[in-house]
Amino acid sequence: MSHRVLTGITTTGTPHLGNYAGAIRPAIQASRQPGVESFFFLADYHALIKCDDPARIERSRLEIAATWLAAGLDTSRVVFYRQSDIPEIPELTWLLTCVTSKGLMNRAHAYKASTDANEAAGEETDAGVTMGLYSYPILMAADILMFKANKVPVGRDQIQHIEMARDVAQRFNHLFGAGRELFVLPEAAVEEGVATLPGLDGRKMSKSYDNTIPLFEGGAKALKAAVARIVTDSRAPGEPKDPDNSHLVTLFDAFAQPAEREQFRADLRAGLAWGEAKQRFLEVLERDLAPMRTRYDELMAKPEEIEAQLLEGARKARATAAPFLAELRESVGLRHFRKVEAKAVEKKADAGAALPVFKQYREADGKFYFKLSAADGRLLLQSQGFEQGREAGQWVGRLKADGAAALADVPATLADGVTAEDVAAALAVFAQG
Ligand code: TRP
Repeated sequence: MSHRVLTGITTTGTPHLGNYAGAIRPAIQASRQPGVESFFFLADYHALIKCDDPARIERSRLEIAATWLAAGLDTSRVVFYRQSDIPEIPELTWLLTCVTSKGLMNRAHAYKASTDANEAAGEETDAGVTMGLYSYPILMAADILMFKANKVPVGRDQIQHIEMARDVAQRFNHLFGAGRELFVLPEAAVEEGVATLPGLDGRKMSKSYDNTIPLFEGGAKALKAAVARIVTDSRAPGEPKDPDNSHLVTLFDAFAQPAEREQFRADLRAGLAWGEAKQRFLEVLERDLAPMRTRYDELMAKPEEIEAQLLEGARKARATAAPFLAELRESVGLRHFRKVEAKAVEKKADAGAALPVFKQYREADGKFYFKLSAADGRLLLQSQGFEQGREAGQWVGRLKADGAAALADVPATLADGVTAEDVAAALAVFAQG
């Protein structure tokens, strides 16, 4: 069975080397495995929560899209789209919002971090907290549940959000699934083997530490300048270095072949100068990045090509999302009025009390049934289960219109002690009416 992997990238920044080695590269590699169906998307609705600068939002989503494409994402294998091109996502977000307890959201790390900071600063608890930030995990749950993802590759900080998506999915299944699993319960996949790159100063590479190495931004020149700023110890050329205590080595490892790693370590122990070591790192980096950078620059020069690929991705995503959302709307009771009318008619018959009555209903097995009762409430006819509510409705319609003549065809059985004549008599009422 194919296995569905889904992940989103919040479009607030420009991708750096850490994003590439830690997320983009492993995701693209995983998407090439047989039996894996990948959904990758630009979480631009999430970006709006963190950023109110339209120019930055616009720029970031373009850069991130171009980066993934330049890094070798094959859009014929992977569904690659912008969250904001899928109107079914915010709609599902609302359905989920209505079953998500506020207490669960109170416990979300991102929200807690804000309120803790406010309290520490003596401010009002919710100062500066928008409803977007507060409900962030529900939007994320919608992203995941909409496409029935099995695995969600994320960083550690996102594990809680996946657990919340599971909670919300379970609650929704319980309330509206009528015994069926409407939503698949997703699992977080935190890749242990994947490099978390250190930044220039040795702490985790992150924009918030201002220690990043740019991926394509600024071209080869900027890359070289950043590599020159990687912090090393002050051992002079010729002096033996300790490769196990150097984040330059960690960075090198993420782009080098095993034999090159061995050699690098041996040469450092033998006194390789830090300047030369950085030059070697730059060479292995450029070997990977230079061809991608060329593609990146070409793509950035033709945004309409990126646009076309993303719209095609949105078309594919919506082909899955739209029918599923229709099913979900149905399950919560947002249904076509035809069915409500049928119920109203039944009520009327009930009120009359002197008439036989059809009832349509759904059982815990998820199937749809109807039954016919006599005016006195005695059961006359019991149908089998139908996959679609519509089928049950159609048989009821036929029995009402054709009366006993339809009995031979209808997938239903007479109740104990009831004769075909009893049923025929009851059905005659509908034919007259
Ligand atoms: N919140 C994620 C992050 O900041 C991005 C994201 C949004 C996401 N929707 C998602 C990740 C769905 C995985 C699945 O990293």
